[in-house]
Amino acid sequence: MALVTTKKMFEKAYKGHYSIGAFNINNMEIIQGVVNGAKAKNSAVILQCSASAMKYAGPKYLKAMVDAAVEDTGIDIALHLDHGPDFEAVKLCIETGFTSVMFDGSHLDYEDNVSQTKQVVEYSHSHGVVVEAELGVLAGIEDEVSASDHIYTDPEQAVDFVNRTGVDSLAIAIGTSHGAFKFPPNFKPKLRFDILEKIQENLPNFPIVLHGASAVDPKAVETCNKYGGNIADAKGIPIDMLRKASSMAVCKINMDTDLRLSMTAAIRKTFGDSPKVFDPRKYLGAGRDAIQKVVEDKIDNVLGSSNSLEELI
Ligand code: G3H
Ligand code: 13P
Ligand code: ZN
Repeated sequence: MALVTTKKMFEKAYKGHYSIGAFNINNMEIIQGVVNGAKAKNSAVILQCSASAMKYAGPKYLKAMVDAAVEDTGIDIALHLDHGPDFEAVKLCIETGFTSVMFDGSHLDYEDNVSQTKQVVEYSHSHGVVVEAELGVLAGIEDEVSASDHIYTDPEQAVDFVNRTGVDSLAIAIGTSHGAFKFPPNFKPKLRFDILEKIQENLPNFPIVLHGASAVDPKAVETCNKYGGNIADAKGIPIDMLRKASSMAVCKINMDTDLRLSMTAAIRKTFGDSPKVFDPRKYLGAGRDAIQKVVEDKIDNVLGSSNSLEELI
């Protein structure tokens, strides 16, 4: 088993009407929680690092820990750059040994997004690395933008973008958003499945990616708050909507907030229940176990990716 690209993962996921989970990693406990969950469900998995994760942990540490995870679990894993801000970040990840990169030019004007993505695709493909790009803008009330201010992906533009850039997968905006505060308290969550359907029609067999797809478990928020946290009005994407998306053209679903909440809840609970504890293995271990549970639950109830491991190379 090895570090693999997402190519075969997505081919199988598309045909099988499921998605692969892409979970953000920042340290050893998060990596172990995620891969232990994937292994328990015999599922392919994508471990992804943001630019700030790279800064926090360092590319060499992250890569070495992911190599150890492959060796220890014996499962196939893709190592992916999440929201790559520029060509330099992409280059660093490819030099480090990542198998997949995202170049996020969604904030650029369309022609700049096309030309910069194309440059990333040419470089990455010449190194055997696959590329995800983004078209459309995800809103989020944590950015002080109301949930109705998404710039939804234009299905016609998506075809032009994919054809001109040669990108391997495309993140689209259909109503998800980053963080724990995706919708105002009385807002009824809604995803634009009509847009997803059109994109699927226009780009048959092409893998689509959903960012900002945490479900925000009210129990995790409640536990955080019960043990000294202060997280008000958190709200995520309903699980049935995510399951529907993964049965369509969506082949990769990104989740970070749900890992953060579950880990924080478990650590806060450990401190609350056992005030004498000061061994980091006790509370970080509880955080790691909580992450494993979340990943197993996602594989069963959101992604549908259990037993997806065979023949990925
Ligand atoms: O989409 C962003 C991810 O949740 C990563 O967040 O930049 O704080 O690591 P981060
Ligand atoms: P969440 O904040 O919904 O977990 O989204 C994470 C993400 O999209 C990482 O790229
Ligand atoms: Zn994202």
